[in-house]
Amino acid sequence: MFINKKLIPGGELLNQAVSQNTAVGAFNFANMEVLQGIVLAANGIKTSVILQTSTSAVKYMGFGYLKSIVSAAAEESNVPLALHLDHGQDFAICKRCIDEGFSSVMIDASSSSFKENVEKTKAVVDYAKKFGVSVEAELGTLAGVEDDVSIPGNKAVYTDPDEALKFIELTGIDSLAVAIGTSHGPNKGRVGNPKLSIETLKKIKEKVGSFPLVLHGASSVYPDAVEKCNAYGAKLENAFGITDVDIQESVKNGIAKINVDTDLRIAFLGTLRQSLEENQSSIDIRKHLGAARDSVKEAAIRKIKTFSGFHSDTQ
Ligand code: G3H
Ligand code: 13P
Ligand code: ZN
Repeated sequence: MFINKKLIPGGELLNQAVSQNTAVGAFNFANMEVLQGIVLAANGIKTSVILQTSTSAVKYMGFGYLKSIVSAAAEESNVPLALHLDHGQDFAICKRCIDEGFSSVMIDASSSSFKENVEKTKAVVDYAKKFGVSVEAELGTLAGVEDDVSIPGNKAVYTDPDEALKFIELTGIDSLAVAIGTSHGPNKGRVGNPKLSIETLKKIKEKVGSFPLVLHGASSVYPDAVEKCNAYGAKLENAFGITDVDIQESVKNGIAKINVDTDLRIAFLGTLRQSLEENQSSIDIRKHLGAARDSVKEAAIRKIKTFSGFHSDTQ
């Protein structure tokens, strides 16, 4: 049973994106203000988004608070939303999230062998299907850091196009995360080649047709946002992301869902730092967090516009 009837299966939003040649934004949150910023953005430009949260973020919030704030967000929203588990490491966490009412889960067994990845993914698909919940899996290895697992750039492996088709057929997943040169976090230039391999993506698309593909580690790490953060005391060094041009090229070639965490974190923290610096006598937490929330909204709008192709920044 869904937390709220306004949460729809993530796969529906991806199929819609494929038919409209756009990508749906999937935004990570770990607290109320970031969630509110995302939903304000979705409502503001009347575009559905996927609300997603990692295992460590689920642990941070606890299922009780998480379900309550998402339920409230869905109530406030005037567009359909999905609630997705990002990078579920095993069957147990995926099952728990399905049982708690998530409308989509990711099983990430991409560090296992192909055979084990298929087995682990298939088990989640078989369970999720009973509840109409969508499943994303990953093939290939992204560089970067997620849930305390760190993969250096030279250990990242692009998704093999032939394996991608076989994997989709064997597992029955709704979407596939591909590794084409992105990496998690703000240091995409340092851990790997931040330029996307659109060639690899094209080869994957040739094999899988219009099947929805997912891009992780795709934050733009906008220079203006990084500069603002650093101007107010952060020390983000070698911060570098994926250009909007590359993002839009990936959407043209089959990417239907784009994950964003880092860009929201930088927006939130830059403004929070600014507010704390400029309002040193204020102990009104709402003043500081409210300003940070507004920045998350603006950042999410910037991303959603890029994904739907009517806005492009040159970097
Ligand atoms: O994929 C990684 C996301 O940025 C989640 O990061 O595990 O620190 O919440 P986290
Ligand atoms: P970024 O770190 O580039 O925002 O990627 C987030 C992500 O892929 C979450 O799964
Ligand atoms: Zn990811």
